[in-house]
Amino acid sequence: MATSAEYRLGPNAYPRGWFIVAEASELDKGAIPVSFFGQDFALYRGESGRVVMLDAYCTHMGTHIAASSSAMIVQEHNNLEGDSIRCPYHGWRFTAEGEVDDIPHIQGECPKVKGLKSYPVREVMGCVMVWWDPEGGEPLFEPPYLPEWDKSNWVQWELDHLGQLPLHGQEIIDNMADASHLGPTHGAPCEWFENEWRDHIYIQRQGGFHVLYDCMLTTTTWYTGPGLLLSKQQFGDVLTYELIANTPVAEGVSQVWHGCLSPAAGDSVTEADKATAKEIQAGALTAFSADFEIWKHKKAATRVMQMNSDGPFMKGRKWFGQFYCEKEKIAEIQQALNGTAQTSYLPLPDAKARELDAGLFD
Ligand code: FES
Ligand SMILES: [Fe+2]
Repeated sequence: MATSAEYRLGPNAYPRGWFIVAEASELDKGAIPVSFFGQDFALYRGESGRVVMLDAYCTHMGTHIAASSSAMIVQEHNNLEGDSIRCPYHGWRFTAEGEVDDIPHIQGECPKVKGLKSYPVREVMGCVMVWWDPEGGEPLFEPPYLPEWDKSNWVQWELDHLGQLPLHGQEIIDNMADASHLGPTHGAPCEWFENEWRDHIYIQRQGGFHVLYDCMLTTTTWYTGPGLLLSKQQFGDVLTYELIANTPVAEGVSQVWHGCLSPAAGDSVTEADKATAKEIQAGALTAFSADFEIWKHKKAATRVMQMNSDGPFMKGRKWFGQFYCEKEKIAEIQQALNGTAQTSYLPLPDAKARELDAGLFD
């Protein structure tokens, strides 16, 4: 496990961006404790439907406000009031903004006391995403969204929760520039390959004849910020979107989720469509598991012994650095990188392969 400093990414230990912190359905039974970015948080859905993430530890006496299941106030479901949450120890109430607005039994008005930090949260495609910024700023871009998610003829994913990987997010991102692993790791060497950087977005286009599936495969894969990968994939007649999300838990430890969004055969989703979508997701997970297993057991590559046949790893790493640097340096990094890169031994995608991108980055 290596630290962000060992990868020379910038002054911050954790990157700025949108990250998955839970699948939305995990909040159905009340508040839950989560730990990311070397810190602990309370995550819950308020009565209005709003999802709230607050720092975990009550400013009164340090109780984790979402880690009790046995306190009576939690058992009786009285800890969530409107969009506020009460601490299970003495019942202080914190608003969705993290302010203390009620202290039980206090004589007179509730005094102004230190509250908890509240974080920007979005619920997107069945995922709870939080904007993490070490400098505490507002979001600089929006999380990704696929309009197909809300169409009645697409089967929504239920995420695979893959747990923690003892690997820095840098090495997960390295995969984007890595054409040469597609043969040895996935049995699917590509015939064309291209990378592109557009500000906070990092794109990979690749494809060719897929021997295992016996059909043409075309994919466009992109990161929106440092922790959210989506991939549009056309296997012969089959179209699917894959999600791979990684969120830093500690430096050099990432939590990983995976899912596939696939179309139904007709106008609405049937049980048969759900079964097919599950199979597609399981197949994609098998392919991803080959990366996952390598990552699980590898040593940190804080430096790459770059060969001329390797893809643009170093550009990919510079791109990743924009999420670790001071805010005023972001534009300079983006301007220096924006554009495309070819991997030496592979041609670029032709016009037909590029059709898969239509509308994705508008
Ligand atoms: S420790 Fe939270 S209310 Fe006392
Ligand atoms: Fe891979």
